[in-house]
Amino acid sequence: MRATAKAQPNIALIKYWGKRDVDKNLPAVSSLSVTLDTLWTKMTVEFSDTRKSDDLIVNRASNQVLLPRVSACLDHIAGVDRRRASIVSEGNFPIAAGLASSASAFAALVVAASKASGACHDNLALARIAGAASGSAARSLFGGFVELAAGETCIDVATIADASDWPLSVIVAITEEGAKPISSGEAMNRSAETSPFYTSWLEQQAGDLAAARAAVLARDFAALAAVSEHNCLKMHSVMWGSRPPVIYWNSATLSCMEAVRRLQTDGHAVFFTIDAGPQLKAICLPGEAAEVRATLEACAGVIRTMESGLGAGAILLDSK
Ligand code: DP6
Repeated sequence: MRATAKAQPNIALIKYWGKRDVDKNLPAVSSLSVTLDTLWTKMTVEFSDTRKSDDLIVNRASNQVLLPRVSACLDHIAGVDRRRASIVSEGNFPIAAGLASSASAFAALVVAASKASGACHDNLALARIAGAASGSAARSLFGGFVELAAGETCIDVATIADASDWPLSVIVAITEEGAKPISSGEAMNRSAETSPFYTSWLEQQAGDLAAARAAVLARDFAALAAVSEHNCLKMHSVMWGSRPPVIYWNSATLSCMEAVRRLQTDGHAVFFTIDAGPQLKAICLPGEAAEVRATLEACAGVIRTMESGLGAGAILLDSK
C-alpha cells in the first residue's frame, strides 16, 4: 500500500532530443547517459481506499503543475481504475532547471508505485513506463553507463558498463536556480517543426552513439570527450536554429565552457555537456575533480557547484 524509492538523475552524453511519437513519448533518437550518485529524489507513494483524488507534494509544497503527469504515470503502473494516491517527493537539488530532476523523479515514482500497488514489473518494464512520462527518466532505472535504444514501437534500456568499471566524476556548475523558460518536451517539438538542422541531427545520431559506446567499452576518455561535446553542441545548434530560437545558456554557461576548454588545453582530462538549462556539467577523471571544481567555482556567474560520482539505478527503500 505504501512504498518509498530513491533514484538519481542521469546526464546524457549522447542526447535524446526529438520525439518519434509525441503521444506515447517515444524518443526519435537513441541516447547514452551516466547515472549520478550524490544527487537524488525520494518518492513515497501511498494508495488509499478512501482518498478521492491524487495529491502531490514536492519538496514540502503542493504541486498542481506536475500532478497530471504523475497521475497518468500511476494509471500506467496500476491501471485507470486504481485507488487514488498520496505522492510525496523530496530531492536535494533544484527542479526543472536542466538538472534532470524529472528523470530521477519519474524513475523513483515508478519503483515506489509498482511496489505500493502490488504490481510486479521488471526494470525494463518500469523504464518503459517512466520513459512514457519523461524520456530521460527511463535511463535512471539503471546505473553506470546506460544506453537507451529508440525503437519504432518501444525503447530498450540497459547498463553497458557499471559505475565501478570506469569511475568518473561529474561537477555541476549551477548558474541559475530558477525553472527553465520552456520545457524540454515543448522545445523538442519546436525543433522538429522549425529547425533546419533537425533532420541531420537525426541522421548523425547512430554514428555518435556507436563512437560513444566504443569509447566507454575501451575506457577511452579522449574519444568519449570528443564525441560527447560534439553531440551536445549539435543538439544546442538544433535548438538555436529553431523559430523562435530555444536558448538555454546564459553568460556564465559560456564562461564555464571557456574554463573547461582552457583546462583541456593545459592537458586535463575533462569535458563539458549542457542540457535543457543553463547549468554546465563537467565530466572528468576522479583525480581531476578538485581542480575542475575550483576552476568552475571561480567562473563569473557560477552560484555554486555540486560534485558526484557515478551511481546505481533506482532502488526501493522501504514498503509496508
Ligand atoms: C536535453 O526527458 O526532460 O536532457 O521526454 O519531454 O520529458 P521529455 O523530455 P526530457 O528531455 C531530456 C532532454 C535532455 C537530453 C537527455 O537527457 O538526453
